[in-house]
Formats: sequence, C-alpha cells, structure tokens
Amino acid sequence: MKIGVLTSGGDCPGLNAVIRGMVLKGIEAGDHEFVGFRDGWRGVVQEDIITIPRSMVRGISKQGGTIIGTSRTNPYEGDGGGPAKIAAMLERNGIDAVVAIGGEGTLAAANRLADENIPVVGVPKTIDNDLNATDYTFGFDTAVQIATDAMDRLRTTGESHSRCMVAEVMGRHAGWIALHSGVAAGAHAILIPEQSLGMEQVAEWVQEAYDRGRAPLVVVAEGFIPAGYQEAYSDKGLDTFGRPRLGGIGEWVTGEIERITGIESRNTILGHMQRGGTPTSYDRVLATRFGMAVLDLALEKRWGSMVALSGTDIVQVPLADAVGSLRVVPQSRYDEAALLFG
Ligand code: F6P
Repeated sequence: MKIGVLTSGGDCPGLNAVIRGMVLKGIEAGDHEFVGFRDGWRGVVQEDIITIPRSMVRGISKQGGTIIGTSRTNPYEGDGGGPAKIAAMLERNGIDAVVAIGGEGTLAAANRLADENIPVVGVPKTIDNDLNATDYTFGFDTAVQIATDAMDRLRTTGESHSRCMVAEVMGRHAGWIALHSGVAAGAHAILIPEQSLGMEQVAEWVQEAYDRGRAPLVVVAEGFIPAGYQEAYSDKGLDTFGRPRLGGIGEWVTGEIERITGIESRNTILGHMQRGGTPTSYDRVLATRFGMAVLDLALEKRWGSMVALSGTDIVQVPLADAVGSLRVVPQSRYDEAALLFG
C-alpha cells in the first residue's frame, strides 16, 4: 500500500514520532511505501508530495516540530480542494490511504472527506489535550512540563523580590495545561476558560498567599475571560469556535492583581515555547504507539476512524466521536485543584 501522511494545524511535540512509528512498522510489516503531503492539507490540494524513505525517519522521535511541515489550510478550499479533486490527485499519485494527524479542525475535515469516499484515517494531536474520544493527546505532557519548569523558575525570582508572578499559558478553549502545570507547580490560583472568576476572588487568593509570606504564583490560560468582561472581549471579534479572540489576558490579570492588592506583580507569557523542542518520553511513547496503530487502520481500510488512548490501551474510534465539540476541564477537576488555592 502507498500511504500519504500529513500534519495539520498547530505543531506539537511528538508529530515526528508518529511518522516514524508508522513508517518503521510499515516497512517491517510488508512492502509499504510512504509519502508526505507538505504543510498539511496545503500539500494535498496543491499536490506537493515528498517521498519518505526509511532514512528520513531515522532518529526523529526526539525531534520537535514536524519534518513535513504544517499549515492551517482547509482541504475544501483552493483550486485542488474538495473530494473530487483530492480523489483524482490520489489516483494520479497511486496513493491508497491518507493519514491525517491533527486537532479538532483537521479531524473534522478528515471525517467529512471520509464521508465523501476519500480513504482517510486520523491521529489526534494537540498540546491543549482538549480532544474528545481520547484520554490524552501527545504534546500535552511536554507542554505541561515546560510550563511547570517555567513556573518553578518564576517562583524563585518571585520569592527574592516578594512579588506576585503570573504565567500565561496556552489553552484557547480548555484549561488543561493551566490546570496540570498549576497543580504541579503549586500555583495559588489557576484561571481557565471554563471558569469565569471575578478578579476580587483572584486577588483574595493572592493576598492570602502573600500574608503567609509566600510569593504568590498565578497561572492563567490564554482563553480565560474574567467575570463581567465578556463584552470587552467580544469586540475583538469571534474565532472559528465562536469564542472571543485572545490577546494579553496575563498582562491584564497582572495589572488587576497589582491594582487591587498593591502587591508588585509581573507577567510572563510562555506562548510557543510550550509547543517547541524535544517531546517528553511519555509523548514519544504515546506518539510512536499512535503511529504504529494508525498503520493498521490504513491497512485494514478503516476509513473514517482514528486511533485514541483509552486508559493505557490504544484503541480505534470513529473520527465523528472526536469532532463537533471540545473536551473541557470538568467542574469536579477544577474544584479539586481549587482546594489548594490561596
Ligand atoms: O495548538 C493549540 C494552540 O496551542 C492553542 O492553545 C493556541 O491558542 C494556538 O495553538 C496558537 O496557535 P498559532 O499561534 O500557531 O496560531
């Protein structure tokens, strides 16, 4: 079989480990060939295809980013877009299967293409860990580790100066990175998109920690919207999920903490640091297992399905189960973490 792979959407530590796992297993399992569509769906609609020989995947599971590039191109747009043109392109190139590695948007497009008879299978990917139908996505563990390390560092400088330190982490729609890194680093407050807290409450937690002689540490997910400020955020326009556009929430939270408490405060935006560089061993293992398992989905022609993690097992689920909504932090998980705030 000739299998074409693409990585789409924001990059994520572990993408290369998926490709390596799939290619190595495919070469061991039989005479399978692999090609990559460059820059996600752009390579599909513009027929930008490269061969992936065994030598190209040597040693790449520890490498961040993606060796075949990524983009946010939609496969239904452009001259080569849509199922009929994609089917013709696959036929021209003798490609029997498409493996789409991506987040909710990518998997939704893959699901729609599969419904229109394109031979597609999927691999879930996002550092945000907000995909339904899988217990974890690779990249998340790496992002949490980077954010935790950063907060450990912020804490020592915060303590030296008796300052409140705020760390803004990724998480546009879901606060998983903020929750996990905040718990790991012992944050005094965790602010996430799912919980619309007022700043008076946040200031109270900060003050409590400060009064005990601690340097308060606050983690805020980029998608957090403080209570009473939905209007202010809505004039930045809505994104594709219908949520307000983001920008500078960490800076704003820091200013509000300083204004209400009078405690000198500093903000750090971790941004794309969380997406770059070497994946953790957990992410390498999960990504490698996903890569090996998705090969089986392709060989078995299970179009419209994807690999997922259930407990410690790799399972297959319909792509439809992973799209349409996002997996957000449940109230019980937030309440559990909040017992340690202040
Ligand atoms: O990968 C998901 C994510 O990390 C979000 O948390 C973040 O809002 C987004 O990517 C930013 O991506 P980019 O800057 O590449 O558009």
